[in-house]
Amino acid sequence: MTATTRAIRIDQPGGAEAMKLVELPLGTPGPGEILIRHHACGINYIDVYQRSGMYPLPLPLTLGMEGAGVIEAVGAGVTHLKVGDRAAYATNPPGSYCEARIMPAMHVVRLPDAISFEEGAAMMLKGMTVEYLLRRTLPQGGLQAGDHVLFHAAAGGVGLIACQWARALGLQLIGTAGSDAKCALALEHGATHAINYQSDDVVARVRDITGGRGVKVVYDSIGKDTWERSLDCLRPFGLLASFGSASGAVPPFSVSTLAAKGSVYVTRPTLFTHLASREATQSIADELFAVVGSGKVRIRIDQRYPLAEAAQAHRDLEARKTTGSGVLLP
Ligand SMILES: NC(=O)c1ccc[n+]([C@@H]2O[C@H](COP(=O)([O-])OP(=O)(O)OC[C@H]3O[C@@H](n4cnc5c(N)ncnc54)[C@H](OP(=O)(O)O)[C@@H]3O)[C@@H](O)[C@H]2O)c1
Repeated sequence: MTATTRAIRIDQPGGAEAMKLVELPLGTPGPGEILIRHHACGINYIDVYQRSGMYPLPLPLTLGMEGAGVIEAVGAGVTHLKVGDRAAYATNPPGSYCEARIMPAMHVVRLPDAISFEEGAAMMLKGMTVEYLLRRTLPQGGLQAGDHVLFHAAAGGVGLIACQWARALGLQLIGTAGSDAKCALALEHGATHAINYQSDDVVARVRDITGGRGVKVVYDSIGKDTWERSLDCLRPFGLLASFGSASGAVPPFSVSTLAAKGSVYVTRPTLFTHLASREATQSIADELFAVVGSGKVRIRIDQRYPLAEAAQAHRDLEARKTTGSGVLLP
């Protein structure tokens, strides 16, 4: 009898209704691969971009980029994982919205015993992203304790980890969020200031908080709706790290704009460039495990859904109803 797994697939890009629960054959891991049985799967905004076709991928597609569980089989040549290991990952190719999967072992790491499967599934993609943003995506001269940075969507999955990690680094993180309740959550998690970008004048507030100077870095995952305001919040030679487009893609712009805004820099980074090798992945994961292990960053899971309700998870995420991280439970 062939082993199978339940999985959430799309045959064509579309809305949340395109997501179907299907039964797929599982197979056995080939060279360099592992079979992992998930205890929890992470929900990320990138899953929405992939489902909607904003990031086109071959079809049919099992969604999901993040998960945690137990290794059930290893293929030839895999030496860093063994059967029975607790493990977690955030990586290409997609396919984590399922009970079990076969995948390349390269970016799968062992999960420390002190970190639960749900926390592992909720933090690998979001937490490794915060690591590379706050520690590797820096303005000229780097960031020092006391520096101001602006972080949009500060009450989201990535956002609440960023608030806490920034506090641990001594940074003054000004968070933005779409409601007063979300602003309060960002402050509770370590943001030194919070701005409701639906109702407040973000540029004026940032100028006020920074004594007119502006921030050294803006971390912007909203895209279209915040692009202009983000540029206007930078100090001269500041850096705009545009790392997502929850409101839609950033419109085309003229490079001369960057001169007019004060010789500012723009980068469009992705976690997957940072996860170039197994060693690089392990190193970023170790930084994340250390900060979570120290208690300085706690992984807040505010949404839990059965795997079969993945479509509802996407609806809630897109409707901006969520805070912190969310997981699917197979
Ligand atoms: N480049 C990378 O390496 C990388 C890696 C991980 C994540 N990301 C990006 O980081 C962002 C956060 O990811 P996440 O998974 O943690 O999601 P999230 O922040 O939990 O959810 C997205 C949030 O974006 C805000 N938002 C603003 N305008 C929106 C709109 N028009 N539609 C929907 N949401 C809107 C909402 O917060 P408010 O209600 O407070 O506005 C919403 O809760 C995403 O853009 C994601 O693509 C990028």
